[in-house]
Amino acid sequence: MSQDIIGDRILIFDFGSQYTQLIARRVRELGIYCEIYSYKSTITSIKKFNPKGIILSGGPETVKQKGSPKVPSKLFSLNIPILGICYGMQSIAQQMGGKVKLASKREFGHAKLRVLNKASGLLKGITKNSINVWMSHGDQVVSLPKGFKTFAKTNNSPIAGLFHPQKKIYGLQFHPEVTHTPQGKQILKNFVGDICDCKGLWNSKNIISKAVAEIREKVGSEKVLLGLSGGVDSAVVAALLSKAIGDQLTCVFVDNGLLRLNEGDQVMDTFKSKFGIKVKRVNAGNQFLKDLKGKIDPEHKRKAIGKTFIDVFLKEAKKNQKIKWLAQGTIYPDVIESAGNTNGTAHVIKSHHNVGGLPDYLKLPVIEPLKDLFKDEVRKIGLELGLPREILFRHPFPGPGLGVRILGEIKREYIRILQLADDIFIRELVEEGYYDKVSQAFAVFLPVKSVGVVGDSRRYEYVIALRAVETIDFMTAKAATLPHSFLEKVSNRVMNEIPEVSRVTYDISSKPPATIEWE
Ligand code: XMP
Repeated sequence: MSQDIIGDRILIFDFGSQYTQLIARRVRELGIYCEIYSYKSTITSIKKFNPKGIILSGGPETVKQKGSPKVPSKLFSLNIPILGICYGMQSIAQQMGGKVKLASKREFGHAKLRVLNKASGLLKGITKNSINVWMSHGDQVVSLPKGFKTFAKTNNSPIAGLFHPQKKIYGLQFHPEVTHTPQGKQILKNFVGDICDCKGLWNSKNIISKAVAEIREKVGSEKVLLGLSGGVDSAVVAALLSKAIGDQLTCVFVDNGLLRLNEGDQVMDTFKSKFGIKVKRVNAGNQFLKDLKGKIDPEHKRKAIGKTFIDVFLKEAKKNQKIKWLAQGTIYPDVIESAGNTNGTAHVIKSHHNVGGLPDYLKLPVIEPLKDLFKDEVRKIGLELGLPREILFRHPFPGPGLGVRILGEIKREYIRILQLADDIFIRELVEEGYYDKVSQAFAVFLPVKSVGVVGDSRRYEYVIALRAVETIDFMTAKAATLPHSFLEKVSNRVMNEIPEVSRVTYDISSKPPATIEWE
């Protein structure tokens, strides 16, 4: 990305911390563009990026171990301010001649940071002598390299903050990027704003102008195809491309019949009616059902859904010979995670999307206008582009849709029952203000029959399970503690309004050992 529109930039040097992406998000929240580079990156690529400051992330290793990742020593003589966080600080200390040792006690969690002086400038605007910070380390710096000073300590870390006034090199033992360090944002702001003197232009309007200019330059007057799924990323790509190239964009929306209640109509209403985008809806529910017949294993079902999607999409795409580009909703975390190597250059196709493999088939070049953006930035530009909040802030929905929420074989009748139950649950969550408090919520269809009673007669009907989870990263999750009265209300509505359901349960399993989806 050229520097004129996005302003000054920060480079995040990644040692593999679980918080590296969080550092990048915090910097961008401050309006400064940044990218994550692997610790293996070359000095040439770093110089080419032309950062006004460098942040060294934390990492899982110990600097005491031979062969552990290092900062390239030339980085220290680039005359660019450097801030090392946790492992980043320990590597600065060790490499510049200080001493690091394995602490007798691992420090993990909340700690009180005692401010010794304000000389570093990192603590500007912090008036208290003691602040809460988040620690997560085993090693500690015990003696400073030549020319460095200490500016903070904790009970366990005699040197919790260090700096070299002339070289503008700084270190923090704690994590300013996590919300458990309440003044962390101010500390990062002091570094990127004051010390690095970055002028931030990274905001939704500029991101959109830049993307629009890039799309126009890339595709010229050629035609672009986008697979619209109804999810956040493809929705924002559609809105962005429509702004950039108008009716050169054609979208294909494959309705697999496994979507939430009325979802297909909502997608058409938003993009075709409100945005005036050319959207071809392919109602392929029958074909998906046919291909799923007799399949009960979740992975077999996933594969069948993925394959049918590609068949249907390709058939549609081939009808339009004039298409020259394929657009994709790849976002920055996909680029980082799929590359496994954060040198900011790898471009990969979203593997968990059903469109994986399409470019090879189609032999079309790919355009990925969101590939530099985090999810929260995608949502912000979506709002700026006028997309409805219901699309932008919707819970994640798996590619195979209700196909993995109906246990075992999928039948038309089951889909309809599940759609109705799910809709009741979601509407109630929204109404009672719980929807945005949980990370993901949905209903699951269990193809077993249980006895119920209506009036004087017994009925023998299906079971619905409700699932609502709280999670940060979807790798671990816990069941949301929704009020009993709320669950009772949802349960009563589901059983009263859907005669085919005689019992409702609430899933309280954590992940692990359970998963979020039931299949
Ligand atoms: P699990 O069930 O693995 O889910 O705990 C974690 C997150 O991933 C979503 N998920 C999927 N998304 N295709 C997708 O696009 C899939 O096959 C798939 N399986 C699970 C799930 O909804 C949750 O957000």
